[in-house]
Amino acid sequence: MRTLIRNATCVLPHKTRQADLLIEGTRILAIDPPRTAAADETVDATGLHLIPGAIDDQVHFRDPGLTHKEDLHTGSVACAKGGITTFLEMPNTKPTTTSVERLHEKLEIAAGKCVVNYGFYIGATPSNVDELKAARRTPGIKIFIGSSTGDLLVDAQEALERIFAETTLPICAHCEDEATVRANAAKFAGIEDVAIHSQIRDHEAAVIATRRSMDLANRHKHRFHVLHVSTAQEAELLRNRGEYVTAEACPHHLFFNVDDYPRLGSLIQMNPSIKTAADNAALWEALRDGRIEVIATDHAPHTLDEKRQPYPKSPSGLPAVENSLPLMLNSVNAGRCTLEEVVRWMCANPARIWNMARKGAIVEGNDADLVLVDLQRQQTIRNEDQLTKSGWSPWHGETLTGWPVRTWVMGQTVFAEGRVDRTVRGSEVEYVRG
Ligand code: DOR
Repeated sequence: MRTLIRNATCVLPHKTRQADLLIEGTRILAIDPPRTAAADETVDATGLHLIPGAIDDQVHFRDPGLTHKEDLHTGSVACAKGGITTFLEMPNTKPTTTSVERLHEKLEIAAGKCVVNYGFYIGATPSNVDELKAARRTPGIKIFIGSSTGDLLVDAQEALERIFAETTLPICAHCEDEATVRANAAKFAGIEDVAIHSQIRDHEAAVIATRRSMDLANRHKHRFHVLHVSTAQEAELLRNRGEYVTAEACPHHLFFNVDDYPRLGSLIQMNPSIKTAADNAALWEALRDGRIEVIATDHAPHTLDEKRQPYPKSPSGLPAVENSLPLMLNSVNAGRCTLEEVVRWMCANPARIWNMARKGAIVEGNDADLVLVDLQRQQTIRNEDQLTKSGWSPWHGETLTGWPVRTWVMGQTVFAEGRVDRTVRGSEVEYVRG
């Protein structure tokens, strides 16, 4: 099967320019093929932009065990609509993904029902270093240095030192200091106003844990990715991050702050918590100057009924995969960033950081994971249109300009004309190991 995409404005690695692109099978065969090149399907993309498929390196799809919130099919379908062609999923499922056997089970579930490409982290526990050393089919190791949803936690220094010293896969971590969070929770016990969440999981909790894990990474010379940076102080720490550390920010920490609690309540209850407008600005600045290299969602669906329980019963987490790229395209239109920056943060950098083969750039020979975007298209996010099983979005009611209109996964059209083809199957990510 050959598909020819004509006249798109293509975001290529070093230049954005009008080009034709020929897909053959699962790969990009040629950029600007000869005019005589034959294809089974020709797509006229005049007026549209073609970008590499977005790669979300932090999602929670709840499969197995918590599939009333989301499963690998519905989560991947939401990705396809949002222009995310590859996701990396977290280990806090039930059971947790903390052994090679569980990792392979998850990969098997995914092969049967994911419409986009997939990869799964292996989770660290205080005592599973041998499993972490044996794992191959994974982007890396996830450590909850502070606990969040579920009971994964590695807090003891000795256990952390062992993981950083003895394993070789890249490590990423949820950085909120457990002792600080527990002390704050005790101090504010009984308060049901969800805004207190940002004082329990406060700036200090995030900064202490991020500093601690950066120190581990640099001493052990171990590749380390700070997940969901939420504070200006962490962004400052990243000025001296050294050669082993990379970092990411999430849309909810870029677009929401504590002033939004009266309007959105527990819908924006997240770990790490939402911080202040000054933190929003500092994260944008850190993205622009390269201290933070990745935008990922931390898509963490819970049902609306679960979220509406009084604090602190309300769980932390919000769904985002179908809106993260549109939120960033809208930011391009608002003049906050360029389309090339968005491609760097959401495609090229996550592919590089997680050592993915053939992903993250429109290059001949790469996988044909592609998104056609209409930067002029206006659309309002509505709960009733969300494809995530959780069925809601914290951005409900917001009108954004700039939307994906067609998504290809490994050369197959998975989203077009507003519909996801649920029969498409993505592939397991391949990792390049040095
Ligand atoms: O708010 C969060 N929810 N943060 C996390 O790190 C985990 C996530 C979840 O799984 O619900």
